Amino acid sequence: MREYIIAFAQAYPNFRQAELESLADYHGIKLDISHHDETNPFLIVKLNNDEEARKILERSILAKGIYELWGQGSTYEDLHEDVQKRSRDKFEDYKQVSFKFDFVTYMGSRSNRQKCEIIESFSYLAFEGPIRMKNPDVIFSVLEEYHVSGNEKATTPINLWFGREIQLSARSANVLDKYDLKRRKYIGTTSFDAELSLVSCNIGQVGPGKIVYDPFTGTGSFLVAAANFGGLALGSDIDARMIKGKSEQCNIKSNFKQYNTSLNFIDALTMDFTNNAVRSDFVINTIVCDPPYGVREGLKVCGINNPEKAARREKVIIDGEKAHLRKDYIPPKKAYELSNLLEDLLNFAAFRLPVGGRLAFWMPTANDDFQVHNLPQHEKLELVYNLEQEFNKWSRRLLVYVKRGDDYKGETVNGLKVNHIKNFRERYFKGFSQKSR
Ligand SMILES: C[S@@+](CC[C@H](N)C(=O)[O-])C[C@H]1O[C@@H](n2cnc3c(N)ncnc32)[C@H](O)[C@@H]1O
Repeated sequence: MREYIIAFAQAYPNFRQAELESLADYHGIKLDISHHDETNPFLIVKLNNDEEARKILERSILAKGIYELWGQGSTYEDLHEDVQKRSRDKFEDYKQVSFKFDFVTYMGSRSNRQKCEIIESFSYLAFEGPIRMKNPDVIFSVLEEYHVSGNEKATTPINLWFGREIQLSARSANVLDKYDLKRRKYIGTTSFDAELSLVSCNIGQVGPGKIVYDPFTGTGSFLVAAANFGGLALGSDIDARMIKGKSEQCNIKSNFKQYNTSLNFIDALTMDFTNNAVRSDFVINTIVCDPPYGVREGLKVCGINNPEKAARREKVIIDGEKAHLRKDYIPPKKAYELSNLLEDLLNFAAFRLPVGGRLAFWMPTANDDFQVHNLPQHEKLELVYNLEQEFNKWSRRLLVYVKRGDDYKGETVNGLKVNHIKNFRERYFKGFSQKSR
């Protein structure tokens, strides 16, 4: 096994482990990052080869890059000693290649003059190849970690590493700019943040040729994120206005066009998830979604509570046709309990996903009465991640489940049925001032 060092972005540190483990698992690579410390932006990992490092990092949103580790130290003196001790045998392999040096710094910076001095201090590497700033064969990177306390600018790094760049991530290739909602043609009040949509798809193990379904698709934020990773995207939403969009040039389809991923768009249907019309033998590899919690959108299902009213509706005739059988009929909708919807979602996933398929969905919780046992569970789905994005008084959690085989029997619970989250909307609008009963 060889040592590599990963440099992380300063974003959602508690999601990093899930993202990298999911990407490694997707590629069938063994990766142990249980030692990851969320406060540390650098992480040393052991992998078999560069190919594994490349595969794990290239799609990552929360990591910036991965480097073959040549040495480390807390001062440049220690670093040089370590590089010469542990990596001398590598120097010869890179003697003639074109190369350049790069700096990856955390909480610090270097002037050009300082950078040149540091580069000079590596002269013992004795590389003879040309220095090429554009497209060199190899990039050697100096990674520096500074510690800042108070308002003082840190001048001396506390940790240093030196390595060969193996792979920069999708984040470093500006994927966040590309999918930024500010630049997206069709968005709405429910559109989901681009960065976390992409992270959700990575943790959901979306991949080329895999079918991804968002049953509460809204403006299609997860669908375009899934297509970015090669997924074939199918969405549905009860609200026909969402699916129709604002115009022919401003709808879910046009977003795919904008990102040049039209071939990855299967379709978006107007459909009540609880009356699902997707053929039962249609294989869905990943389900990724942000179900309706009643904060920015209503939670409704097709149906009518009053049977007499329903019977009266069925008698309405328009142009000699029964109104409810006409194409332009808009079915009535009724309110539904969130706990029931989540139960439907888990049942659907347990039934439709293949073994190993993933369900990833977001769920809000009030911080003062959250309890893990309230999270919905299904006996055929293993809850592998419960990742929290914390706001002031509430959080939203990305819950990720893996469909297990016949020999797996987990717990079936729906703590939401008993209490708590059904009050989430009410408590949200009251600023969480009263505890739920
Ligand atoms: C939180 S929003 C999801 C937003 C979406 N992620 C986006 O990018 O815009 C929830 C969506 O669920 C839809 N919805 C509500 N009840 C539904 C149901 N029974 N079946 C399908 N969709 C439903 C709403 O119309 C809304 O668009």
